[in-house]
Amino acid sequence: MSSPSAAPQRFLTGITTTGTPHLGNYVGSIRPSVAASTGPGAESFYFLADYHALIKCDEPARIQQSTLEIAASWLAAGLDPERVTFYRQSDIPEIPELTWLLTCVTAKGVLNRAHAYKASVDKNTTAGNDPDADVSAGLFMYPVLMGADILMFKAHQVPVGRDQIQHIEMARDMAQRFNHLYGEHFVLPQALIEESVALLPGLDGRKMSKSYDNTIPLFAPREQLKKLIAGIVTDSRTPGEPKDVEGSALFQIFQAFASEQETTELRKAYAKGIGWGEAKELLFERIDREVAPMRSRYQALLQDPAALEAILLAGAGKARELAQPFLRELRQAVGLRPLASRETPAAKQNPGKTAMPVFKQYREADGRFYFKLLDAQGQLLLQSLGFDSPREAAQTVRLLQTQGTAALAGLHDKLAPVPDTNNQALSGAMLLLVQTASDTSK
Ligand code: TRP
Repeated sequence: MSSPSAAPQRFLTGITTTGTPHLGNYVGSIRPSVAASTGPGAESFYFLADYHALIKCDEPARIQQSTLEIAASWLAAGLDPERVTFYRQSDIPEIPELTWLLTCVTAKGVLNRAHAYKASVDKNTTAGNDPDADVSAGLFMYPVLMGADILMFKAHQVPVGRDQIQHIEMARDMAQRFNHLYGEHFVLPQALIEESVALLPGLDGRKMSKSYDNTIPLFAPREQLKKLIAGIVTDSRTPGEPKDVEGSALFQIFQAFASEQETTELRKAYAKGIGWGEAKELLFERIDREVAPMRSRYQALLQDPAALEAILLAGAGKARELAQPFLRELRQAVGLRPLASRETPAAKQNPGKTAMPVFKQYREADGRFYFKLLDAQGQLLLQSLGFDSPREAAQTVRLLQTQGTAALAGLHDKLAPVPDTNNQALSGAMLLLVQTASDTSK
């Protein structure tokens, strides 16, 4: 994946906590991420995307239970929380804060084109409903929250399913836009698609997914696993008739667990006409062989939620050691700054009380409006002629404050001569004013 000489590659991925992990999650996400985390020179960040869960689930108990089950699954599958950073998204308050910074550099039009949002809009339009019917702003903002997850930890590689590629591209765009506006702060992430991992089919042959209700829970007890596997769709060919591996859900699931040699053997058995019952038995034993040792670890973890909680909080502590200083850097970059840290030349020269030149605006007995510029000692530096309105006077002051001596040339007919003008004092004062004005308007 990375050449030995390259800087450590950072992997990051999350699982939304809305359901019970199934074999598809295991093959597509849990197993590859555990494998990647053990590689040399890899730095891995894995998290429970529970803020994302709120987008599609309004059952609090389900979110809590799912968080517990997914955390336990990851650990049971061999994730070592000492080696990786393993945390719960909602334990990192810097994530929603970064979401806002990114929201402000994300074009609304780009979010309009996000697949998940567009799918809802298309469905509404087809049904003749208002395009945004039942669409929460959370669904609309989903890609920005995901961008914050990724960019916060400067991930290089983001292992995801194909349906998530667009979100990684959007995160790249956000990073690029932010970097362009505020300087190089973010790493541009890349989607990492496991080419070898085909989408795992479910019981009915379609993609295994909670939304199709065709899943096999990863840690179903042995007997239930056996029953579920018996329910996988097959065709009506009888034992003895040769069978196609092409389009066989059973074969594809087997392949996801078996070695190449085992797969070749099953392919031969298909050609020789293995009965479906026997093939299902083989599949069950093969899956159970891999899952059984994890299943007991999983059950033990579920019995001890306090231990899981402690592991997640320790992970959040590790994650925040990076997130907190990085967010401070980002806040500084965009101008969310402590006021006392403001660096003006005056502050540098006079660390105590800052003596600044001042503009004074006033009205004379002639009814006209005037201003003058005094230096810190009250010495007159500039004197205006009369203006018809206070607004004109103020606009001229503003011009001098922002453009400094450059504005003087155009203002000859608005300024009165000042006897004994000290040009150096004047330009010094103007420079101070310009710098202060640009500091406060940023
Ligand atoms: N949206 C992802 C999914 O449902 C989960 C997720 C949230 C994620 N944030 C992420 C994945 C950041 C990778 C990186 O599959």
